[in-house]
Amino acid sequence: MKKISIAIDGHSSTGKSTLARELARSLGYVYIDSGAMYRAVALFALENGLVDDTLDEAGLLEHLQALELDFKVNPETGRSEIHLNGKNVEKQIRTIEVSRYVSEVAAIPQVRTKLVALQQEMGAEKGVVMDGRDIGTVVLPGAELKLFMTAAPETRAARRYKELLERGETVSYAEVLKNVRHRDHLDSNREVSPLTQAADAIRLDNSDMGLKEQYERVRSYAERILKAKK
Ligand code: CDP
Repeated sequence: MKKISIAIDGHSSTGKSTLARELARSLGYVYIDSGAMYRAVALFALENGLVDDTLDEAGLLEHLQALELDFKVNPETGRSEIHLNGKNVEKQIRTIEVSRYVSEVAAIPQVRTKLVALQQEMGAEKGVVMDGRDIGTVVLPGAELKLFMTAAPETRAARRYKELLERGETVSYAEVLKNVRHRDHLDSNREVSPLTQAADAIRLDNSDMGLKEQYERVRSYAERILKAKK
């Protein structure tokens, strides 16, 4: 059976990673969460005194070359998890604090150059599902299936708010909505590879779509492409 690459882009908190993980699992493909890599760089900045209300961009750039980022499968969960300089930081990168600075970090051209190169290496072989903001446009422009996911900001904020509460974070819905809007703005307006829908991507607005319906729809797209490839 031939393998394809699947690129999933879109706005924050649209369920890209849930869908990508499930697709990868069912197809026996590798899942790569590109956002986790940007989050890990933001975490590094926070943990190393490079954020004092504003981000010390020059300071971060001094460390950038030496930063080691990779994914390793956690034997307990079977999930691939992000490691920063050899340490598993999968949990630490999901806080609202990291979300506050990640889009600023992701707008730095040198950060993107490094991370895109790593992502392209990881996605060099087919049989990969990668999610992010610029996967279909920049990282894997040759992906056979491209999706662009979106939903109303309020819906997305409500989903993320629930997730953060379940993880025990103290945060208000208003703060989460503000963060969703702020990242939408920064991600869509940055100079280097801003968030845009690739011309050949299928748009999925899941404001009113259940997870199962969405998964089945996307799975049928993938099957159609795989059939044509046989
Ligand atoms: O919160 P959500 O899961 O939607 O975002 P994420 O996928 O974890 O990505 C966090 C942030 O990283 C985004 O808001 C972008 O600023 C940045 N990012 C990016 O610039 N390019 C990517 N390919 C992936 C993420």
